[in-house]
Amino acid sequence: IRLGLSTGEVVAATDGGSGDFLITGDAVNVAARLQQGAESWEIVCSARTARAAGEGFAFGGVVEADARGKGAPVEARRLEGARSSTAPRRRTPFLGRDADVAQLELTSGRAMGERRPFLITITAPAGTGKTRLLEEFLARLPEQQPEARVVTAQCLPYGQRLTYWPLHTLLLQLLGLPEDTDPDEIRPAAQAWLERAGDSAPHRTAELLAATFGTTEGDPIDRAELFAAWRSAVELAAREHPLVVVVEDLHWSSDSLLDLIEVILQPRGEAPLLMIVLARPELLDRRPTWGGGRRNYVALNLEPLDDLAIAALVDFLLEGPPQAVVDTVVARAEGNPFYAGELARTLRERGPDLRDPSAVTAAVAALPDTVHATVLARLDLLPPDSRRTIQLGSVFGRSFRTSGVPAVEPGLAEGLAEAVDHLLEHELLRPGTGDELTFRHILIREVAYQTLPRGERARLHGAAGTWLETQSIGREEEAAELVAFHFREAVTLGTAAGIDLDP
Ligand SMILES: Nc1ncnc2c1ncn2[C@@H]1O[C@H](COP(=O)(O)OP(=O)(O)OP(=O)(O)O)[C@@H](O)[C@H]1O
Ligand SMILES: [Mg+2]
Repeated sequence: IRLGLSTGEVVAATDGGSGDFLITGDAVNVAARLQQGAESWEIVCSARTARAAGEGFAFGGVVEADARGKGAPVEARRLEGARSSTAPRRRTPFLGRDADVAQLELTSGRAMGERRPFLITITAPAGTGKTRLLEEFLARLPEQQPEARVVTAQCLPYGQRLTYWPLHTLLLQLLGLPEDTDPDEIRPAAQAWLERAGDSAPHRTAELLAATFGTTEGDPIDRAELFAAWRSAVELAAREHPLVVVVEDLHWSSDSLLDLIEVILQPRGEAPLLMIVLARPELLDRRPTWGGGRRNYVALNLEPLDDLAIAALVDFLLEGPPQAVVDTVVARAEGNPFYAGELARTLRERGPDLRDPSAVTAAVAALPDTVHATVLARLDLLPPDSRRTIQLGSVFGRSFRTSGVPAVEPGLAEGLAEAVDHLLEHELLRPGTGDELTFRHILIREVAYQTLPRGERARLHGAAGTWLETQSIGREEEAAELVAFHFREAVTLGTAAGIDLDP
């Protein structure tokens, strides 16, 4: 086996004839070249992929790969493996969010003190700081609740196929077993604990808990019975010790796991139990009723981090850069600490002279691949009309008018109102005056724009320019610059894509 990995834009399509899924593009070609050049059992990555992989992986030195068909040799690096997390990393301080921490602590104090189960759902788009907030809360917890025990289920991307897997770690933590426990040891350990804890049917409950991950043979299990077993286990654990159950990244869970978690999170009776669920807003698309109608339910929607906190973060990461650099990153990050952190990383690694404002602006202008990928994942989940609307809107810029959309693509007129509602509801766009819409975050606009093939961008800029021209009758001068911008883009992109544009 040899692997070549590369990162970049590709065109993905289903072949009409064979039904095959095809991807083409420069990134695919480069990956193929790297793969051909790799030794067996080697993974060779393009420099861009290596950069995007960040600090989690170790790479060998730069090698120049054979690049037939490409002008210059491809810069590549050999993957050596995952980097051990033992390397001491300078932890960023926790910044801002005092009110959010206070709200978590208040709720936790009530759950523990009044012995009433509470559920807190923390939602926010990728990189807003849900995990960091939770870590801060958990770090302070021993002071507030010395007795409390914390167990975590971590949902994984592509987790829809790993039905109940995230509960595996949670069960081991409940039983106090190490991560690498032999599957056969789980059931007896569970049974012994359930007996001690006073479960009414310890043998059966243990069997069900272990069967969640297919560690026992036997009849296919009944869902209702399985869910009840999990609920008892969590209730019993909470009666033993005050318990905090965390579910991370619930938006990635399978549907079955969502059902199960809904049951676990509705314990009967009194117990000092705090449940904290972290999710991106997509969770509410999958389960609009999440949390609805429950007692003791707290929904906490994180706002962007304020500019002062972002500035402090940038200052820390770049170890006291010039103020102008901080300002540039703050303006670009718009309250997203993940984005700010990645921009700081870009500046550190690419090493432009931080005292040269134009070099800094240029370095910050390119979107780091890691950020691109997280935003793209969100756009990919949109229904077709909404996705198309946001793509078309991106051609106009950070703001656009609803009426401009059918002007560049008449076919979309019908579903437009609904598509726009969806985008507003999902906080991708924000309404402005009249029929104007603005992208909530500059990132969303940029990534949406990048999903358009170059040739299409050219055509759409042409259409946008033409429409804007008709809209500006009587104010031609005011609009001239904007109209000219679109026509210029149409020609430049069209030429690059080899399209002959007839103005
Ligand atoms: N209040 C904060 N102070 C300092 N750094 C922060 C803060 N909030 C977030 N960060 C940093 O920003 C980055 C993204 O935060 P985090 O991972 O918590 O986001 P998230 O909302 O959990 O995103 P995802 O949906 O991808 O899981 C992390 O590197 C984190 O350390
Ligand atoms: Mg997170």
